[in-house]
Amino acid sequence: MAASDFLVPEKLAPLVRNTIFSGNIFHQEQVQSTNLVAMAAGARAGRAPESAPEGSVFLAEEQTAGRGRGAHIWSSPRGAGIYCSFLLHPPMSPAETLWLSLISGVAVQDATREVTGLQADIRWPNDILINEKKFAGILTEMSSDSSRVHHAVIGIGINVNQEKFPDDFSTTATSLRLEAGKECSRLEMTAALIRAIDREYRALLRAMESPIRTPALRFEPIMRRIESRSSYATGKLVHVDENGGYTGTTDGLDPRGFLRVRTDQGLRIVISGSVRPVSRRSDASGA
Ligand code: BTN
Repeated sequence: MAASDFLVPEKLAPLVRNTIFSGNIFHQEQVQSTNLVAMAAGARAGRAPESAPEGSVFLAEEQTAGRGRGAHIWSSPRGAGIYCSFLLHPPMSPAETLWLSLISGVAVQDATREVTGLQADIRWPNDILINEKKFAGILTEMSSDSSRVHHAVIGIGINVNQEKFPDDFSTTATSLRLEAGKECSRLEMTAALIRAIDREYRALLRAMESPIRTPALRFEPIMRRIESRSSYATGKLVHVDENGGYTGTTDGLDPRGFLRVRTDQGLRIVISGSVRPVSRRSDASGA
């Protein structure tokens, strides 16, 4: 890959003017993990939100130890994908940071449609799929005390121009190139993603500043928006890999952003388990 294709700030900045990130884009050729880089920058910036710029974005061409959810690794070959981490200082409690992951899914979905015309789906909480295969993932990390977030990092990995995946992943993973049938501009996709994160984050802050006193109701518009964007949010038969595993039908989000699942034993709330679709036939056989 030529250095001229790198996602450098000089190329990105003009495409993301008027976003909270425009003056704070940082690029490296190779890092262990952009989340680690962003978390370290957040720690250096200090604990008071006013001492750090509200938004920074950290990009790398390659990660040598890309991190996924649940201690998985995120394969990050040089120049094939987008590996980026957004550093924010959201005025929220640690429990509310789930909303950061959820709005980021909407942002990836919007950027994908804008650049490729492809319609992506969101599998709660933060897998982004096309044709039921995953092409993007989100890992949100934070530094906080018991009541307040000092800084949060939204790490997003997008498979852009991978042409194939190892056999183990070929039925579950995909890239924008494989789905669109042509190469996709990482620069355009990154710029669209930065603009979309900016839009969604501002909407989240507006919702949080609303005069509605009940916290649950303040997130209502965001919650409805996410539900409307995800085929997994409502009416989907799923298996949940949590508390021994169970099967049920999704029934929207609860006021904290958790997924509600109706089972034969009653309503269950998915806190962090992974959710997989169950075909109606395998359900009938008791899977
Ligand atoms: C997942 O689906 O498991 C989440 C994957 C998140 C990967 C991204 S790539 C950029 C950022 N840096 C990391 O180490 N991880 C996230």
